[in-house]
This record gives sequence, C-alpha cells and structure tokens, in this order.
Amino acid sequence: MSISDKNENLLIKAEAGKDLTREDIIALLKLPFKYSAALYLAADRVRKQQMGDEIFLRGIIEFSNHCERNCLYCGLRKGNTNLSRYRMTEDEILATAAQIKKTGVPTVVLQSGEDSFFSQDIVCRLIERIRKETDLIITLSIGERSLNDYQAFQHAGANRYLLKHETASRELYKYLRPGCDWENRLQCLRHLKQLGFETGTGNMVGLPGQTQEILADDLLVMKLLNADMLGIGPFIAHPDTPLAGIDNDDIELTLRVLAVARLLTRNTNIPATTALATLHPQGRLLALQAGANVVMPDFTPEIYKSRYDIYPGRADVGSAVEIISRLEKDFQSIGRTLLYSPGHRPN
Ligand code: 5AD
Ligand code: SF4
Repeated sequence: MSISDKNENLLIKAEAGKDLTREDIIALLKLPFKYSAALYLAADRVRKQQMGDEIFLRGIIEFSNHCERNCLYCGLRKGNTNLSRYRMTEDEILATAAQIKKTGVPTVVLQSGEDSFFSQDIVCRLIERIRKETDLIITLSIGERSLNDYQAFQHAGANRYLLKHETASRELYKYLRPGCDWENRLQCLRHLKQLGFETGTGNMVGLPGQTQEILADDLLVMKLLNADMLGIGPFIAHPDTPLAGIDNDDIELTLRVLAVARLLTRNTNIPATTALATLHPQGRLLALQAGANVVMPDFTPEIYKSRYDIYPGRADVGSAVEIISRLEKDFQSIGRTLLYSPGHRPN
C-alpha cells in the first residue's frame, strides 16, 4: 500500500470510530500538512453526527486568582509577585451567577487557583446558595482536593468538575508543576468519575519538551478516563513566569489534537478554548469546525477579569452579554446556533 493510501485509510478508520492504537494516534498527529483539512472535516462530521449543530454555553466566574502552587507556565503561580491578587466575596459571586442566569446560560463554571481560603464549608455554602437562588448547573474548577471535599461538593449540589491533567508525561509534569504528583492528579480524576461528576480533563499543546508521542498519551488519558469534557488549549508563554519567551504560534497542532480527540472520544463536550481565540483571531471558529462544540464566555466582573492573568492577551473584551452577541453572529456564519440548554454528555 502506498503511503497516501495508508493515510487515507487511517482517516477513514478514525472517522468510522474504530479503536485507534497509540501508533494510529501518533500517525494522525504527524500527518503531512496537506491532510489537515481532511482531518478537521472528519472531526467536524463526527461532531455533527454525535453532538448536533448546537453550541453549548458555559458561563465562567473566576472568583479567586490566589494560588498556592507554582506551575512554571502559569501567571497565577505563587511566585509571581507582579500580580495583584483578589478574592470575590460570596455576594459578588452570587450576583455574577444571577447575571449568568439572566442571560439564559444554563451552567456556571466556578474557577480559581488552588486557594485553601475557600474551605470545604465555604465552597459548599456557595454551591447551595447558587443552586437555591439561580438553579444553575454548577461546574467546579478549583484544583486538587480530597475525596471528602469532592463528596461534600457533590452533596451540596455540584454536578461537574474540570481538572486538566495538563500533560501525560510524568517527567514534564514533574518539571512544570514543582511539588505536584501526577498520580495524585489522576487519582483525583478517578475519584470524580467514581462519584458521578461529569468530569473534564485536558492538556496544553506546545509545551517545551512536548512530543507527538506525549500528545498521543494525552489523548489516551482522556479516552481511558472516559472523561466527559476535554479542554485542549495552546500553551501561551507568560512574561512573569520561568517559561517567559518560549513562543508558541502553532495553532495548527492544537487544532489537530482537538480533532483527534473528537475522533477518538466521539460524544464528549469539547470547548473552543479562550486560549485558542487568544492565539489566533479565528481560533474559536476554527476549533468549532475541527471538532469543538462548546464555548465558555467569561462573566467575571470587569474589575477582576484582567487580574485572572493565566497567560497574556486573553481574548474577549467587553461584557459577557456583548461577547455572546458577537459570537452568535460569528457562529451563524458557519451554520451553527447557540443552544441555551444544559448540554449534558449524551449517553
Ligand atoms: N498557557 C495556556 N494555558 C495555561 N494554563 C495555565 N497557564 C497557561 C499558559 N501559560 C491553563 C492550564 C490550567 C488552567 C488554569 O489554565 O491548562 O489548567
Ligand atoms: Fe495554580 Fe492552576 Fe496556575 Fe498551577 S495552573 S499555578 S495550580 S492556577
């Protein structure tokens, strides 16, 4: 068989949902550039067949930029003394949740650094109040916690949890996240799944030292965990971190990982991440045409938003309502509509 026949067959196999081996995944990631469009189209068809043409919305509140960790890539790292830190009050968080509700967005994502100020009790009270006052579906994205905490959060009414595994390479993980343990993170993810959370994981693409083999392992982690949501975004260097100046302008590789994630996991919820929109003006639309089906507008109040400075130049200026109406126009141009429904992972 010629190499081009081999590549065509691999794409057909991937689109048909046949089990992909690690070698298959690596080959998809390494396909010559001329196959990119075919790969994205295959992922787009699987997205349409499995998830439909609607784009699900999740409203984010970044309620604290305090973080006790020191990840080399992240602007919120403890060692970044240039950052002005904030914590939103409970009432501010509730008022923002009410705004999300008013906009018609059915889900709130509560996101923060790893901030133990927000104890189990405080987080539970927040969840209970949001459930009672707004009835929004609650997603937490607050890092590694004990099984006991996760149980309490669930009891209080949280239904979903995002915890990106960041990279499948134990060595890279150890280097990038000093003092953190990869196995522990995976254990957290397994706990979340066992408890019945709709669980999100994901990675960054374009990290220094990352290879296509490592990216294939990222995709296998997503598959093996049976994750329900996948956050796949490009690494963007932050000037106030040890990785300052390591440029990543390769949107192509992130889109490829995203497309292969769709082909591999079929019916998962995959956001077109803000990081993609930051790296490329068309990043979000390109992702939505390469397998993604979710967008997550940021509802964090203006006074705090710019201080949630994970990486520089985060896209989306203006209020979330303005952002959504701009997105709506963009999405119509590619034949997609926003759906104001919960967007659970289909069975
Ligand atoms: N570039 C892209 N994404 C980043 N994150 C942290 N730092 C960066 C960066 N420099 C992402 C990580 C993490 C979340 C807080 O943001 O994936 O899960
Ligand atoms: Fe903290 Fe998460 Fe940033 Fe690491 S990636 S420094 S844990 S906010």
